[in-house]
Amino acid sequence: MKRREFLQSTGIISLGLLAGCTPKSKSIPIDVQTTIVDNNIVVDITKVDSLEPSVVAWGKKRIGIIKNNDGSYHANIMTCTHKGCTVGKSKGGYACPCHGALYTYDGTVTRGPAKQNLASLLVTSDEFFLYIQLPVIDSV
Ligand code: FES
Repeated sequence: MKRREFLQSTGIISLGLLAGCTPKSKSIPIDVQTTIVDNNIVVDITKVDSLEPSVVAWGKKRIGIIKNNDGSYHANIMTCTHKGCTVGKSKGGYACPCHGALYTYDGTVTRGPAKQNLASLLVTSDEFFLYIQLPVIDSV
């Protein structure tokens, strides 16, 4: 039996992979409580500003919302596009705790190893609320 076959048969390789690549599940604190109406996360507009993103929950995922300089709003799913860790807020953007990827507050990747921007969500608003349109997930 070769070394690799032995390691695979004992599960050592898969455990090693899990230990090295499991997205960190450290919970990012939520800044604003929300409700979901018609597949939109509804957020009190007074809870979001342009200084740093407000974090809301979408199940176990986190969404960062920030007000742009032109008065519009931007929302990103805070899931790193490298291997799926939850990114946290850092000075001027989001930082991934797993392998160090950095993103701007609009989700643009500025440092790898991630190669793709954070996923953006459509945000609409009225006088009182922001409406973050959730992606439709096909059931299998
Ligand atoms: S999961 Fe690797 S940089 Fe984020």
